[in-house]
Amino acid sequence: MLAPAVLAQRSGGFVPGQKRPPGDPVEIARGKQVYGISCRSCHGADLRGGDMGGPNLLRSQLALADRAGELIVPVIQGSLARSGMPAIPMSPEDAKAVSAYVRSVMDTIGGQGKPPSEMAPPSILVGNAGEGEKFFGQKCAGCHAVTGDLRGIATRLADPKVLQNTWVAGVVRRGGFGTPRSTKPTLVTLTPKTGAKVEGKLVRMDAFQVTLELEDGTIRSFGRDGEAPRVEVKNPLQPHIDMLPQLTDQNMHDVTAYLVTIK
Ligand code: HEC
Ligand code: HEC
Repeated sequence: MLAPAVLAQRSGGFVPGQKRPPGDPVEIARGKQVYGISCRSCHGADLRGGDMGGPNLLRSQLALADRAGELIVPVIQGSLARSGMPAIPMSPEDAKAVSAYVRSVMDTIGGQGKPPSEMAPPSILVGNAGEGEKFFGQKCAGCHAVTGDLRGIATRLADPKVLQNTWVAGVVRRGGFGTPRSTKPTLVTLTPKTGAKVEGKLVRMDAFQVTLELEDGTIRSFGRDGEAPRVEVKNPLQPHIDMLPQLTDQNMHDVTAYLVTIK
């Protein structure tokens, strides 16, 4: 992550802690809705982190320094995909609205990230394995089989929380509490205004630059100027990301309760 001073400089001289101009209430309300659908499962209802692997956003220096989405939007578009936050498909307006919502919550509480909420995190194993098996048959069996690729999944991922993070968040935490990362590289396609497309593995991306590893192993960086070049991030676990908005907490708990029986 960038140092706060660098972030402040990049975001146009805004100093974290300084009072931000208040956001547009209509945009914030829209952003709150988007947050509930696309972010809550990982970052928690109160932004303090969820049990699906997202950190506490109220302590994020990046979010604190954001002024108009210029720092948060690239994250939503996949700039941190390699360290565990997948690209979340949405319109640029929705991405800006959700950034406005995050800023508004930080500004309300002072941005210091109060101690974690008193609410205990929901226990993972509260689901119904039978319901989970049914759900699996309908929604997962097209790509997976418990006697095939997922055989012994609960032995390999013995901690139910890790198991749940793996399929819900599309995030694999290796070695316990380490940095979450996807098992496969994140592929990126750049489409410049003129000239050929460039494809490669994502190394790094922010609002100003995107760095790729090309097929022959060379590393190249490209400047970004608004929508040029167009950047498409393809996460190997995209089917799982697409699934997130449709999953209820009950679905997640049922499926996890089922998967822990696949030893
Ligand atoms: C699949 C889980 C997941 C979802 C869904 C998700 N995030 Fe994240 N997010 C993460 C993880 C994991 C990180 C930490 C990445 C890292 O450490 O580099 C992160 C990091 C971030 C950060 C940077 C925090 C920092 O200071 O480094 C921001 C901002 C953020 N997320 C915002 C959002 C918003 C807004 C949404 C909804 C549009 C969202 N996230 C959805 C998992 C998720
Ligand atoms: C459209 C295809 C698709 C669907 C539907 C799908 N997945 Fe996946 N799933 C994948 C892909 C691709 C991976 C990544 C495999 C890899 O990285 O090797 C994956 C990975 C996983 C993993 C991690 C496997 C491992 O060995 O670490 C689990 C667990 C999982 N999926 C469970 C589920 C569950 C549960 C559902 C249904 C709720 C589901 N998946 C629906 C495509 C799908």
